[in-house]
Amino acid sequence: MPASTANFRLSTQATGALETLVNGIESSPGDLIRPHEFDDCATVLDVRGVLKDLPDGISEADFVGILRLALLTECATESYANVISTIGRECDAGWLSRFTDRVWAPDELTHHTPYRLMLQSLGFSDEELGRDIRDTQEKLYAHTGGRTPVHITTYGMIQEYLTDNYHGLIAKTLRKSAPEAAAMVFRVKRRETLHTAWYRDMTALQLESNPRFVEDMASEINCFDMPGASLVPELQAQGKRWQQLMGANVEQIFRDLLRLAHDILGSSRLTGELVLKLAADRNVDIGPLSASQVSKAISRLGGIGHGLIGEAVLEKAGLGYTFERPAGKQDSGFRPYEGVQEKVRSLLRGWIRDHIPSPATVILTS
Ligand SMILES: [Fe+2]
Ligand SMILES: [Fe+2]
Repeated sequence: MPASTANFRLSTQATGALETLVNGIESSPGDLIRPHEFDDCATVLDVRGVLKDLPDGISEADFVGILRLALLTECATESYANVISTIGRECDAGWLSRFTDRVWAPDELTHHTPYRLMLQSLGFSDEELGRDIRDTQEKLYAHTGGRTPVHITTYGMIQEYLTDNYHGLIAKTLRKSAPEAAAMVFRVKRRETLHTAWYRDMTALQLESNPRFVEDMASEINCFDMPGASLVPELQAQGKRWQQLMGANVEQIFRDLLRLAHDILGSSRLTGELVLKLAADRNVDIGPLSASQVSKAISRLGGIGHGLIGEAVLEKAGLGYTFERPAGKQDSGFRPYEGVQEKVRSLLRGWIRDHIPSPATVILTS
């Protein structure tokens, strides 16, 4: 169930830090795409050659669908912006509304253009595409997650990351036969990478102020759906298959998202708590126990063990270096870190790591 705005509180200090962050973004928004930047490309653009060289399993109809999904979700950003900005106003988070209205929404306005141009070069008329765009823009975006700033910045970070990834897969598919089109998509992709970092930093400042927001992060992740699910469900339903056919690396996606979450939470203990909540919700087993049983037991013990779970998951995903001690001969001052306690931790961590399923299996079957 989406959390109510009544539960959202931030300290004056955290609000000040978020205002400062947004001031910085407003004054240095990076390499914004100019309104007519893609015009020159439109005259030389031809993506028909890509149809002869599509990855195995992708039909021409699939390719058109891949482009239409990007076009129609990118063209509807105004409806997401309205939702985000309203949440900012409802929760007294002026920084969020200001960021959304003045930076994010105008930035997103140009992102659908490369896709419109590519579909035109495949023979779609401007009238036809304009009608599709208008129909999508008139639909109401239904946000299924929570309605507080911490929910929405968590949502924004994941959505931007996955969109970034989707643009990247398309750009790689285009690169050989239509390099001009690939260059436009890479240009948009770089903005999404920056948006991901902005939402990450906004979420981190809120978590720093109140670590219990980890529960809101977990609930937002667990009910996450791309905006396309409510706006263009027939296309979004094919999204996972298309990404796999274009070569999406599920392990890498999990690793990147875990890294973003870990950066926000700032400790293996909170990362462990987040992962355990997610696993419990998805009925994942850890050895002979369900994640939900493990979660209840650890909570009764006052949270001891979340750190080990966090470290085990980070290690399994190849991110063990975020907490591991340096290998090889070290200064004697490191000895307290290498005693019996650390050996026991390491044994337990290894057991957990070997008994949790691979993240890719969980993602692909959920
Ligand atoms: Fe975008
Ligand atoms: Fe974006």
